[in-house]
Amino acid sequence: MNSRTRHLELCRILVDANHAYYVLDAPTLSDDEYDRLMRELLALEDAHPELRTEDSPSQRVGSEPVGALPTYTRTVRMLSMSNCTDADEFADWAGKLDTFLKRDEDADDLVFFVEPKLDGTGLELIYERGQLVVAATRGDGTTGEDVTPQAKTIRSIPLRLRVDDPPASVSIRGEVVIAKTDFEALNQRLSAEGSERVYANPRNLAAGSLRMLDPRVTAQRSLDFFAHSFGAISGTSASVQPASQLGFYELAARWGLKTHPEAHRAQGVSATQAAYDDLVARRHDLPHEIDGMVAKVDSFEIQDLLGTRTRTPRWAIAWKFPPIERSTRLLEIEINVGRTGALTPVAILEPVPIGGVTVSRASLHNADEIDRLGLKPGDKVLVKRAGDVIPKVVKVLEAGDGEPFVMPDQCPVCETVATRKDGEVVTRCPNFNCPAQLEGHILHFAGRGAMDIEGLGTKLVQQLVAGGMVRDIADLYSLTAEQLEGLDRMAQKSADNVVAGIAASKRRPLPRFLNGLGIRHVGSSSAILLAHRYGTLEAIATASEDDLLAIDEVGPEVASSLREFFDRTEVQDVLRRLAECGVKPTPPEKRTEGGPLAGEVIVFTGTLPTLSRDAAKARAQRAGASVGSSVTKKTTLLVAGEKAGTKRKKAEELGITVLTEEEFLERIA
Ligand code: IVH
Repeated sequence: MNSRTRHLELCRILVDANHAYYVLDAPTLSDDEYDRLMRELLALEDAHPELRTEDSPSQRVGSEPVGALPTYTRTVRMLSMSNCTDADEFADWAGKLDTFLKRDEDADDLVFFVEPKLDGTGLELIYERGQLVVAATRGDGTTGEDVTPQAKTIRSIPLRLRVDDPPASVSIRGEVVIAKTDFEALNQRLSAEGSERVYANPRNLAAGSLRMLDPRVTAQRSLDFFAHSFGAISGTSASVQPASQLGFYELAARWGLKTHPEAHRAQGVSATQAAYDDLVARRHDLPHEIDGMVAKVDSFEIQDLLGTRTRTPRWAIAWKFPPIERSTRLLEIEINVGRTGALTPVAILEPVPIGGVTVSRASLHNADEIDRLGLKPGDKVLVKRAGDVIPKVVKVLEAGDGEPFVMPDQCPVCETVATRKDGEVVTRCPNFNCPAQLEGHILHFAGRGAMDIEGLGTKLVQQLVAGGMVRDIADLYSLTAEQLEGLDRMAQKSADNVVAGIAASKRRPLPRFLNGLGIRHVGSSSAILLAHRYGTLEAIATASEDDLLAIDEVGPEVASSLREFFDRTEVQDVLRRLAECGVKPTPPEKRTEGGPLAGEVIVFTGTLPTLSRDAAKARAQRAGASVGSSVTKKTTLLVAGEKAGTKRKKAEELGITVLTEEEFLERIA
C-alpha cells in the first residue's frame, strides 16, 4: 500500500475512533490501539509532510504558539439571553410570548426546547464546504478572538463535518466546557507544579485554556464542546435546513458535532417548569457545571415571528439556578502574600463539595471583611459558590471557641513590618526584596515594557529564586553562564544568551528602568514623565514629596509612593549595587521645547493599529505633549484605536478632538 493510501486510511480510522470516543462516548478502539495508529500517522507525516492536511487527526496536538490572538469580526452577532430566576418569572415570560404572537386562549401550548445552560465559554465554529476554517470566541458579541488553532485541539470539535454534501458555509455556536473532575485534576496538577495560576471555576479554566497563546497547552486541557445553535447557513438546499431547535440538534449530531444529551422538547409552561425542577435536582450529578436551564421556542418559524431585541432574542430565556450554599468549618485563617505585597487572609475550610467542586479555601479579601463577618477559626460557616463567583464565606452559622483573628503586623514570609495606609483596607509587605514578591518583581523588571531581557522567563526565574541564586534584581547582573547551565532546560547556548541579554539591558532608557522597578502607582506613563522631568535616577530618587507634587500630572498617591520606595534601605542598597554592576539607564533626550504638540494634554485609548501604547506615549511626550491616563476637562486630544470605549464617549461629550493613530502621527511628523 502506498503512503498516500495508508495516510487516508489512518486518518479515516482515527477520525472515526475520535468521534466515537469524544462525541458519542462509545469507544471503538482501545487506548493502546489508538496511540499506536496515531504514532504511525505522525511518523508518516514526518516522512511525507505533503500528506499532512489541515484536518488530519495529527493536528489535534496543537500548532506552534502564536504571538497574540487575532480579532475576528462577525456579521451575525452572538446574542446573550434574558434571565429569570423562578417559576413565576418564567410563566410571565412565556405568557408574553402568547400575547406577542396574538395566540388564542385555546391554542395548543407552545413547544419549548430545554437545554442545560452550560457554564463555559461561548465559541463559534465556521465550516466552509465542511472544513473547519475559523473558530472565534464571543468577545463583545460582534468582535471576538480568532482561536482556530486552539479550538482544533478540542477533540469533540470535528475538523471536517461528517457529511458528503456540506453547505457552502455554516456557523455553529456552542459552549466550550471542562468536566468537573478534569477541572479539579488540572487545578491539582497546577498547584503541585507550583503554578500560581489556579482557576477559580471550570468556566475560567475553559475560557483561559481556549485563549492560550500556545495551542499545545490548550491540547492538554481536556476541553469539550457542545453545539447549541446556528449562526448562519448558506449554500444548501432548504430541505436540509432544520425547522426547529430539535431539528438543529439532530442535524448537528449527524454532522459529527456533540450536542447535550439532556436537551429535549417540553410542551407548555408546566412541562417546562417540571423539566427545570428535574434538572435542578440532578445538576450535581452531571459531569459538567451548569448554571441554569435554557428554554427556547422550538419552532424556527415562531422564533422568527418573535424576533430579536438589540442583544437578546425574545424566543429564549436563561432560567438561572439558585447559588449553592453549604455549611462547613473554618479551620484557620492563613495569610497569603501576593505578588504586589498585599497580605490577603484566606479561609482554610474543612473540604466540602459544593456543586461538584470541592471547596477548601476561600479568600477573605482583607481584615475589614473578617471583622464584618465576625469570623474566628473554629466557627461553623456558610459557604456559597454561585456559578460566576469564587467561593465566598457568607456568614457565621455557629461560633466556635477560637480566638478572634488579628491581622499580623509582620509579613509571614520575610517578617518585615507590614503597613496599612490610612483609608486603605489592604495591609502590605513593603519589603522590595520579599521572597514572596521577588519572582513577580523580576519578571516585571525583565518584561517587555521594562528592561526587556530576552530569555528570562517564568520557569527560569522560578529556579533562580528557589535556588537562592537571585535574592534581588541586582543579583541578576552577576549571574554567570556556568551557573545557569546546571538548571532545568538550560543548554549552554541558552545560558549564554540569557547572560548576554542581561548585560544588554544595562543601558536601557531610564523610563523603562523606572517602570521596571514596579513602584506602586508608577506605571509606564508616570515613568516617562518623571524621567523627562528629572533626567536622572538620582534626581528622581532624591526629589522631595513637595517637589514631586508640583508636577501637574503627579498626584499625592504617586508622590508618597515614590518617596516611600526610595526611602527604603533595601531599595537604596539594590540601586547602589545595580550601579556598581554597570546598570546605567540612558537619560531621555531633551524634550523639544515648543514641539508640535506643546501644551497639549493627550490621552490614548483602545488598541492602536501600529504603535504600542508605550511607544505612542513616548512619541507624544517627545513632541511636547503631556500624557494623561483618563479623560478630564484638561484633556485636549484623544487618540483612539480599536475597541475604544468609554473614554472615547467621554471625550466626545466634552467636545475633545479625537484622532486616529494616523492623524496623530501626521501631527507629530
Ligand atoms: S443559546 C439565544 N444555549 O449562555 C442566545 N446559550 O447567556 C444564544 N450558553 O453566550 C445562546 N448554554 O455562551 C445557548 N444551551 C445553551 C447555552 C448557552 C450556555 C451561553 C452562551 C451564551 C450565553 C447567553
